[in-house]
Amino acid sequence: MMRRFRPYIFVLLVLILIGSWPRMFSTAARTINAWWSPGNGSILRATVQYENPSGWLSIVNTSGDVATKNNAFFDPIGSNGRACVTCHQPADGMSISAESVRQRWGITSGSDPLFAAVDGKNCPDLPDAYPQSHSLLLDRGLIRVALPWPPKGADGTSVKPEFTIEVVRDPTGCNTNSVYGLNSPSPTVSVYRRPRPAANLKYIIADSFGVGRFIAKNGQPAERDPETGKLVQMNMMADARELTLKTQARSAASGHLQLKDGLTDAQLEQIIGFETQVYAAQSYHSEGGELAESDGPPALGPAALARGRTGVLGNNTTNFWESKIFDNKF
Ligand code: HEC
Repeated sequence: MMRRFRPYIFVLLVLILIGSWPRMFSTAARTINAWWSPGNGSILRATVQYENPSGWLSIVNTSGDVATKNNAFFDPIGSNGRACVTCHQPADGMSISAESVRQRWGITSGSDPLFAAVDGKNCPDLPDAYPQSHSLLLDRGLIRVALPWPPKGADGTSVKPEFTIEVVRDPTGCNTNSVYGLNSPSPTVSVYRRPRPAANLKYIIADSFGVGRFIAKNGQPAERDPETGKLVQMNMMADARELTLKTQARSAASGHLQLKDGLTDAQLEQIIGFETQVYAAQSYHSEGGELAESDGPPALGPAALARGRTGVLGNNTTNFWESKIFDNKF
């Protein structure tokens, strides 16, 4: 008996194939679950895609392929085996996800340098090798940020606070700790923060439109770049305590990497050179499809971020108003 040709099955197969076309034939290098170990020395391709729960995330390096060997962003230049890339992973959009943290714990039984006591534990003196000691990092991807109290200004001198701090609740015990707490010999406030993406940084450090004596968002007076004396946008870090990529990289190296002697000029140049050319964004959504098509919305995908102009609040408002005014669209 002859098998009947079933046109609807054929149509269904064609539709499935068309749907998976962009995923199958895109030219970018594609990597699944790619943890970047410090000092692995391989090449970070100009365009890389990483699978994530909602599709694909893409990294674009506008300088082309990046040779990471002997590059201070990728090498464990400090004393604890970490590199900047430990917490700023390409596969996690140059941040790090709690999921990746848990995978590292599973694979290394907690011995990955990521879990260093200095800021990878809820408090440095908690017992080693216990997941409970690292619960904020494992459960929420949070790193301990130790802030001196009273705070220090950009020139390193103490600022006279206009308020006092009392500890009302201290679930981790670090703020009441006799060595690391608020009333210790070197008074410190521990806060716990997600690593912000070390990518798309031209929007964070833009010093053109909207950078004035006062910060538009909160009305506070703006600080100046300690080196050039220029006003800065103060968009970096959760609390704007770092004014430039240079001061940020120096304190990240001494704090997170426990580098004793400070970064050399060449290392600083490498780090900032890398950070200011790398862009990260979702480029494919499992239900929405390709997000960065050539005729798609101009704001989506990392290449659009690399092309975009900087301005107030990233680039949105400035570009919107300017395009309306100059293109006479009102
Ligand atoms: C142990 C994890 C860890 C390591 C290692 C690390 N960082 Fe970070 N990074 C963070 C955290 C946490 C923040 C956010 C801190 C905050 O907001 O107070 C951050 C923020 C940043 C930012 C600010 C981005 C923004 O938009 O504000 C940059 C840039 C950065 N890191 C670069 C670096 C560099 C360069 C190195 C290496 C010298 C490095 N990081 C090493 C955890 C880390």
